[in-house]
Amino acid sequence: MTEESAHGDAGRTDGGDIGGDASGVVRRDRFSGGPARSFLSSLAADERIFEADLEIDRAHVLMLAVQDIVDDETAGEILTALDAIEVEGHGSLPDGEDVHEAIETAVIDQVGEEGGKMHTARSRNDEVATCIRYRLREDVLDAIETTLALRESLAEVASEHTETVMPGYTHLQPAQPTTVAHWALSYEGAVRRDTERLLDAYARLNQSPLGGAAFAGTTFDIDREYTADLLGFDSVIENSMDASSSRDFLLETTQALSTHATTLSGIAEDLIIFANRGFVDLADDYSSTSSIMPQKKNPDTLELVRAVAGDAAGNVQGLTTTLKGLPRAYNRDLQRATTHAWDAVDSVTEASEVAAGAVATADWNEEALEAEAGAGFSTATGVADLLAANGIPFRTAHELVASAAQRAAEQANGNTVNQAAEQGADYDALDAAAEDVLGEPLATYVDPDAVTDALDPAQSVASRDSQGGPAPDAVADQLEYARDAIGSDETVHTELVDELDAAHAALREEVNDYV
Ligand code: ARG
Repeated sequence: MTEESAHGDAGRTDGGDIGGDASGVVRRDRFSGGPARSFLSSLAADERIFEADLEIDRAHVLMLAVQDIVDDETAGEILTALDAIEVEGHGSLPDGEDVHEAIETAVIDQVGEEGGKMHTARSRNDEVATCIRYRLREDVLDAIETTLALRESLAEVASEHTETVMPGYTHLQPAQPTTVAHWALSYEGAVRRDTERLLDAYARLNQSPLGGAAFAGTTFDIDREYTADLLGFDSVIENSMDASSSRDFLLETTQALSTHATTLSGIAEDLIIFANRGFVDLADDYSSTSSIMPQKKNPDTLELVRAVAGDAAGNVQGLTTTLKGLPRAYNRDLQRATTHAWDAVDSVTEASEVAAGAVATADWNEEALEAEAGAGFSTATGVADLLAANGIPFRTAHELVASAAQRAAEQANGNTVNQAAEQGADYDALDAAAEDVLGEPLATYVDPDAVTDALDPAQSVASRDSQGGPAPDAVADQLEYARDAIGSDETVHTELVDELDAAHAALREEVNDYV
């Protein structure tokens, strides 16, 4: 196998040393040239499934030997050739329409004609479906690992900032004070569901299509459970047509990745805005500067994280469009479907890792956050709640506080409530509003000290101790729950990684009996 014969060279015509028909033309000769050759070939892209294909070849050959479909000696020769091909690497493969064909050619080159027995009782259709699932399992486990790291980072931020008050927003307008911990755990919860969705997709990914053959099964007495087991799959996809042609596992996985990318884009966007407001200082490692403006420190990495959501959504769209309306069973369209899943898993895993690092290393500016926590009269809802708790119907309390805010705005000479209520209404404004709305001073209804407390951002936060609320006590419960969930998902992840490693080692032992 020389460089010239490697993929990219469209013109392999020698047909190796395998036998031909009467005219000396073998199948691979008839279809090996022509202007569409490189368009047809997936060999370069198949580098990603090179190792997977070798492992699947091994499992298949072991099964053929155990089932007495191929004799032990031939099986041993093929398995020895596969090891040599692995050492040579994907780049040394002879030309082929894809990695499956190229590896088969290389096996025949080494073993001779008998090597062609490797492809007994299977097709490239079940083979490629198995390769994709085999490789994607590892990639999804990597993606899951990055979601876990991100959740750890968020939980760590939360544990450090249960008392760090900050403005909370709706419509990007100051709404109610909250804490950095409450913000961080809001995303931990979302990323937790992203982890769950990926684990859920993994369960259906981890099933073996091998032995489905072209789509219609085979006359040979194969053992599909055995190959599934050798390859570490949980189960077999029963119907052979389903096994060889369905790609819903690609769609499901890509969708789960795209959902995670959407979560990441929210975290990135918030941090970009917080950096802009001086609430958070991103580590230099996650920032960039300008080629002309020397003072600039820009959140470029987070902007790229935000953009990955667009890539992943595009992958879902491309994949769905390719799969929609495909007839049963195998169609070559499927070759181009796979690429969308690889792109998504690569970009989203990288983005997730970067987001975890950016969150873990960011510095929260407690003073700036505290100074802004009450801006925009964000304690207004808490004051209305206090009045309502003292017998004033909530709607009336809402009107009273709104009127105080308006009064404060006019006094500050602003023309909108948000603009002028930067300082918010003070006790006097609320008292005057009470006279207007209720016809009595505020103290008739509520203790003035309680009103003053409600106007304080930290007190306002501490008072919202409902389940899931931002009060430090409520956040402590959320943090405990988050840490437990991270711990149990980490255990599940480790078990899944171990299962794959164990299958790989066990398969190797079986192979060693033959080589
Ligand atoms: N390279 C192909 C793919 O990725 C392999 C299957 C080819 N099968 C076929 N019947 N043409 O889908």
